[in-house]
Amino acid sequence: MKNPQHDEQNDRCGAAADRVRIFDTTLRDGEQTPGFSMDRRAKLRMAQMLETLGVDVLEAGFPQASPDDFAAVAQIAATLRDTTVCALARCQRGDIDSAGRALEKALHSRIHVFISTSPLHREHKLGMSKQQVLDAAVAAVERARGMCHEVEFSAEDAMRTEPEFLAEVFSVALATGAGTLNAPDTVGYMTPVEIAERFAWLRANVKGAEHAVFSSHCHNDLGLAVANSLAAVSAGARQVECTVNGIGERAGNAALEEIVMALKVRGAYFGTDTRIDTRKLYPASRLLSQLTGQRVQRNKAIVGDNAFAHESGIHQHGMLKHRGTYEIMRPQDVGIAETKLVLGKHSGRAALRQRLHALGHAPDEAAMDGIFARFKALADKKREVHDEDLEAIALGQDPEALGPWRLVQLGTSTHLGGSASASVKLRHDDGREVGEAAIGDGPVDAVLRAIERATSSTLDITEFQVRAVSEGGDAQGQAQLVAHHAARDWRGHGVSTDIIEATALAALAIVNRIERQVPESHRRPTVENCGHTKPVSMGGST
Ligand code: KIV
Ligand code: ZN
Repeated sequence: MKNPQHDEQNDRCGAAADRVRIFDTTLRDGEQTPGFSMDRRAKLRMAQMLETLGVDVLEAGFPQASPDDFAAVAQIAATLRDTTVCALARCQRGDIDSAGRALEKALHSRIHVFISTSPLHREHKLGMSKQQVLDAAVAAVERARGMCHEVEFSAEDAMRTEPEFLAEVFSVALATGAGTLNAPDTVGYMTPVEIAERFAWLRANVKGAEHAVFSSHCHNDLGLAVANSLAAVSAGARQVECTVNGIGERAGNAALEEIVMALKVRGAYFGTDTRIDTRKLYPASRLLSQLTGQRVQRNKAIVGDNAFAHESGIHQHGMLKHRGTYEIMRPQDVGIAETKLVLGKHSGRAALRQRLHALGHAPDEAAMDGIFARFKALADKKREVHDEDLEAIALGQDPEALGPWRLVQLGTSTHLGGSASASVKLRHDDGREVGEAAIGDGPVDAVLRAIERATSSTLDITEFQVRAVSEGGDAQGQAQLVAHHAARDWRGHGVSTDIIEATALAALAIVNRIERQVPESHRRPTVENCGHTKPVSMGGST
């Protein structure tokens, strides 16, 4: 039963019993879902980041799916030097041959063959008997073996498959040369206790199990993907399939960053580790967001904006005394520069003083009384008080009235077909009055372009949010913008009963901050029409 190929496969991934291999499928299971598709260049960029992160195996795509998928896998295979590059294939000759050809240039290659094994899938999807499934699995593993360094076999919908039949399929796949046996929870149906029992049972009942690496692949339909993956690890799985930010079919796959940090922070409990450089987790998450244009939810574990943010006064007070009071890992461990004490209306004097210190201000007690009162007044109006606001308060300025640019006039009109035009008149503190007009995909886009022109600046908008701050017919809307300029993020907010005007005020706040703080020689000039990332376009006109 001992197959030399198994030891070779397991050695390369680190045969140590306490090492969990991270199999990343961001570019396959993740990329195939609505809203997350990437072009070839984006996939290559992400693949390089994943190699730097230290994933053991990177599933680069499904080459038979399209010529573009094939080319992306081939390019990644030719580029990565350390990570094993994997291609997906159904248990069909055409798929396996495509996968083999796409991986030809890989230094370390793996073909991942899969077939459904559950009664539901056998009957309704494949129309195949158990014997036909077994035969197809054997033929596929045999064919794939000759075309790559390692073979992985997946039993799709494994968790709803009769355990005895699953063990039988795995036994023949292993005997034929598959070194990794993947048991996906394809529809996210399992609970942690059940999945742990199933993995333990498989390890006891698959023939030759001691030569296999058992792998989990959990979907998140019940929000249990990470918990189930960790349960599988505690029952002996030594490969986990996951994706950055948990993207993937329907509710997603298990989130790579959560699994890796759980195994690290609770290393003593699990008795395992990975070879991931955890300081690259946040950069990898950010890169994926940028490449797909999909933001990570604020409260997402490990990489969300709030993951290391503390706003309540009690928490901030505790954090300032000893960070262990409210943090189980350091933000630096996942690649975030520092813990963010979000200063808002719940924040206390100690947190404010600490932030002012970090910004280079050391007010005495009397000055602090005034600063604290103005800070609280601003925090009542604005949800978050940012560094620029604090600097203005500390310098005795009114953060809301700072120029040099002020809005004098604004007009927009929307045209049939979705485009819009906007005109703005701005006044500068040096006495200039500038009027500009621009066309955009919608009124917000047009206004931003007009402001860019009038102020000769470039706004790469990375975040745009509008929310109501009061109720009723004359409700105030607040626009929050974040723009990237001169290697940092700049925030601006504006409030008005008109959301287009609120957006214009938020944009001007950013332009003003940049003009006050960045020397002219370091500012980026306007580039006609290359402008900003387009924000959500709003209908209507003002
Ligand atoms: O969820 C699943 O079953 C899969 C397989 C192809 C591994 O993605
Ligand atoms: Zn999947």
